[in-house]
Formats: sequence, C-alpha cells, structure tokens
Amino acid sequence: MKLLHLSDLHLCSSPDAIIYGINPYDNLQKAIANIQAFKDTIDFGVITGDISNDGSKGSYELADISLSILPFPIYVTNGNHDDYHNLIDIEHRKLVYCPRVTRQGIDFLFLNSVAIAEDGTNRSKGHLSDWELERVKRVKDQTNPTIILMHHPVLTSESWMDRRILINRVDFISVVTSIPQIVAVLSGHNHRSFKKIIGSCLFSTSPSVSTSYSDFLRPYEEANSPGFDVLEIEGNNVSFNTVNTR
Ligand SMILES: [Fe+2]
Ligand SMILES: [Fe+2]
Repeated sequence: MKLLHLSDLHLCSSPDAIIYGINPYDNLQKAIANIQAFKDTIDFGVITGDISNDGSKGSYELADISLSILPFPIYVTNGNHDDYHNLIDIEHRKLVYCPRVTRQGIDFLFLNSVAIAEDGTNRSKGHLSDWELERVKRVKDQTNPTIILMHHPVLTSESWMDRRILINRVDFISVVTSIPQIVAVLSGHNHRSFKKIIGSCLFSTSPSVSTSYSDFLRPYEEANSPGFDVLEIEGNNVSFNTVNTR
C-alpha cells in the first residue's frame, strides 16, 4: 500500500495570499504537479492538519477543489491553525474528516491533538485528551497493524520547534511503544521532515507543503524546501520517501 502524507498547507481564502513571504496556494500547486507523475500508484492520501492558515471556509474550499484533481481519497485531521467547525462544514468533494478508516487490513486512527486555551482559541502546543489517549490504548485489543495520525509531533529534536510539540508526549510514547500493533505515528506542525524509529514504531513528521523551517535558522524563517512524504506499508513494515517541491 502506498500512502501520500501531506501536511500544513496553510491556505487562505485567496489564492494570492502571502504568509511568511511565500504563496501557500502556489506551493500546493507545485506539490500537486509533483504528485501527478505517480498519482496512479497511490492508494490514498492523508493531511495531518493546518490545512488552513486562517480557519476560513474559503480556505477549506480552496484545498478541497485543488486536491479534487487527484484520483484517490484524502482523509484529514485538524491542526492548531484549523477551525474544526469550518473544516467539517464545507461541501466536501475530496477531503474526508473521519476518526478512523481501515484499508487493506491496516487501521488508520486519526487523533485530535489541538489544545484549547481558556479563551476558546487553539493553542500552538498540542495535547491529547484522556478520551483520545483511551482510543490509542484500545488498539491493543485489535489485530490489524495500526497507523496513528495527528497534527502535533511527539519527539524532541533539540531545536526551537520543541516548544511547539505535544505536551503529554511522554504518556503517549509510553502507550504507543507498549502496543506492537502500532507501526507508525505520522504528524506535521513542525514544517520540517523528522523521522525516528523507537522499538518497532516509526515516528515520522512530514515536511510542510507550504513553508519549511529549519533547526538552525531563526523561528519561522523560511528554509525554502517544502514538500511531502510518500509511505509504503507492507504488513508491519513502513518505509518512507520525502519529496522536496521547491
Ligand atoms: Fe503549520
Ligand atoms: Fe501547526
């Protein structure tokens, strides 16, 4: 099975909008042009959040219409820049928001890692509720290999990005590494590709489709290598290929 992993499109309602000095709509089109070359080999796609930069309905419609050119389904979860209600409220042609899907004997479990501040806005850091952690723990009662997808990464990388990741990551990692059925955890948010295997589980943060940050540059300084991941899954084995689209 071949899985396309996109993340952090950061679209606005207008295709002309500029964020952090780049046009996210143009970079999405560059990614789509790359994907067209091997689109028939992909079984389905996922987006691990920050589909929108401003949470507007128009931004989700722009993502949905743009990605409709691809022939496979695309399942999504939300990130800290997303407005959950606007995301699920548009008339979807391509993007599917769902908590779980099973394909070719592999379970894909989508978690909501967005933490809500006291004023009701999304926090940048992530947090998994007890409810979401319980959903992860219940994987031990299943037999299928399972891939977890959520916006916030869980591994530190000794960079400025570490202050943005999952707050309760220690609890999460200890649950995940105690359940051999969980073969991969896929996330986004850091706008930088980062992979590490712990036990038998691949922790993979994809690059961003829109902008690319670096450990070594100042926070939010563009490193100019947006992209996406393509993952190959065979039984319990997960391998990856990162495609740069600059
Ligand atoms: Fe992002
Ligand atoms: Fe994010």
